[in-house]
Formats: sequence, C-alpha cells, structure tokens
Amino acid sequence: MRIILLGPPGSGKGTQAQLLVQRYGIVQLSTGEMLRAAVAAGTPVGLPAQDIMASGALVPDEVVISIISDRLDQPDMKNGFILDGFPRTVPQAAALDDLLKKKHIKLDAVVELRVNESALLNRVETRVAEMRARGEEVRIDDTPEVLSKRLASYRTLTEPLIHYYSERRKLLTVDGMMTIEHVTREINRILAAIGAVEPKAAAPKRAEMAARKTAKPVAKKAAKTAGKPTRAAAKAGKVASKGSKKAKKTARKTGKKAGRTIAKRGAKKASKKVTKRRAKR
Ligand code: AP5
Ligand code: MG
Repeated sequence: MRIILLGPPGSGKGTQAQLLVQRYGIVQLSTGEMLRAAVAAGTPVGLPAQDIMASGALVPDEVVISIISDRLDQPDMKNGFILDGFPRTVPQAAALDDLLKKKHIKLDAVVELRVNESALLNRVETRVAEMRARGEEVRIDDTPEVLSKRLASYRTLTEPLIHYYSERRKLLTVDGMMTIEHVTREINRILAAIGAVEPKAAAPKRAEMAARKTAKPVAKKAAKTAGKPTRAAAKAGKVASKGSKKAKKTARKTGKKAGRTIAKRGAKKASKKVTKRRAKR
C-alpha cells in the first residue's frame, strides 16, 4: 500500500498513519516528524528549519523533497508507505510524481481528511494537554497564533493539491469529523475497495468489533450509513486496477456522488431519527 494522507493541521493525519502502520506493518513517512528530529539533533537541515516551523510557514520544497527522496531509497519502503504531511505544495507533488516514476512505484491513493476548521484548535489544544500530561515536550507550533498561520499556509499552498490529485483520479475524501475509530474504519474500507489492501486485512479487528457491540444504537446507525460513502468514493476515485473482484464489484454498484456528502447525510438522518424518537416520547 502506498498512500498519501492529506489534511489541515490537526486533521488526524498522524493519528491515522499510526493506526495504519499498526495494522499493515508499513512505514509512516512524516516530514513534520523528520524535521522535528532534525531540529532536536541540530543537524544542518534542522537548524534553518526550526524558525520556519515555529512561525507556521513551510520549509523550502527542495529540503523536504530531498529528505523524502533519500527515504524512499531505503529497503524498508518495499512493503509500502504512508506519506503524512508530504507533499504540501504543487511543486512537491510534481517532484514526488517524478521520484515515484523513476523508482517504478505506483501511488494507490491520496486520502484527504476533511475537517471543519472550527474543530482544529480544540484538537490541537487537546494534544497539548495530553502531551503535557505525559510529561512530553509540547510542539512549539501548537499555539493558537501559530496554528492560524499553519492553517493559512494550508489553504494557500496545500489545498490546491486536492484539485491536483482529483484530476489524476487519486483523491478519496473521508469525513474527518467522525470519531477516530470511524475515520479508521472508513479509511480501511476505502483501501480495500480500491484494492490497495486485502479486504480481509482491512476488516475490523476483534477489539473494534467488541467496541462496536457496546456502542449505542444511534451511533451504530450513523456508522452504518456513514460507511456508504467510501464505496462511492472508490468509484469516484477509481484508481484500482488490481483490486479484488469483490471490492471492484461493490464499488461499481454505487453512484458517483462524493463520499463525504453521503456521510454527512447519513449522520443527519441518524440524528433526525433521534429527534423524532424524542418528540414521540
Ligand atoms: P506536521 O508535523 O506535518 O504538522 P501538521 O500538518 O500541521 O499537522 P499536525 O501534526 O499538527 O496534525 P495531524 O493532522 O497529524 O493531526 P494529529 O493526528 O496529530 O508539520 C509541522 C511543520 O513542519 C509544518 O508547519 C512545516 O513548517 C513543516 N513541514 C512538515 N512537512 C512539510 C512539507 N512537506 N513541506 C514543507 N514544510 C513541512 O491529531 C491532532 C489531535 O487531534 C490529536 O490530539 C488527536 O488525538 C486528535 N484527533 C485526531 N483525529 C481525531 C478525530 N477524528 N476526532 C477527534 N480528535 C482527533
Ligand atoms: Mg502530524
């Protein structure tokens, strides 16, 4: 599996990348993490990057492209990878296309985590609190001021990648406003539907099933309805050529509507039912 996770700061790229690493045993390539390690080690890459990152701006394209190019040459890349936070600009995406072409590597999909901007500050503040509670050093860019600059960088420089990958039929959008578990399930379902992973490997694990059983009925319904978009998204993205027959068949059955719209509708439908039920009481 070779995928890119795309989304604004705090959208859950790192969280979902870690869960995918655990499930599929592939490598997470986070340029943010690599740069923070370089800063901590005071390397020639880290020193100039420190102030840029602290300001919420992006490190120059050539720096991150070179980091990724070197990393893709490592032997542990052969089983697949998740790019988290790279590419972040159109020139980075074009450079990645060239790199992958030269290395004869095919990208499976770009998974966009779509999250309302209003939720991001809260998430970042939660992360700060959690890191403090664990006694870890808090990220220097996790302040409301720097977050708004990171968001501005995202809107101007990174958001154009949505169009870039949509045009190349690689983009699959997931509603990142759902719970972490639901987002994970959606990503796994999409990856299975496009044939990037075996459907069996993407199926919910026992612990997830147990958690699902204890979930409230309304949440269950919302999850069920929200599950539909991925198949539609798979159709829209339609990047799979090697997928399992079953996954392809399922994908073919669905309409062309974008996944996120249906996800939202599913959630709305579920909440309407609750309101109706309450009104009856
Ligand atoms: P980077 O480290 O990549 O930061 P970012 O993109 O700003 O994203 P974050 O790591 O803050 O958020 P995330 O999406 O990973 O969310 P997370 O899973 O942690 O980049 C930092 C800097 O490095 C950049 O500003 C730039 O300067 C530089 N840089 C990096 N790459 C670069 C590149 N390619 N080019 C140039 N410069 C580059 O989740 C956040 C919180 O939300 C957590 O507490 C989590 O538990 C919670 N959460 C996650 N999902 C959910 C959910 N569904 N519901 C509720 N809470 C959730
Ligand atoms: Mg991250």
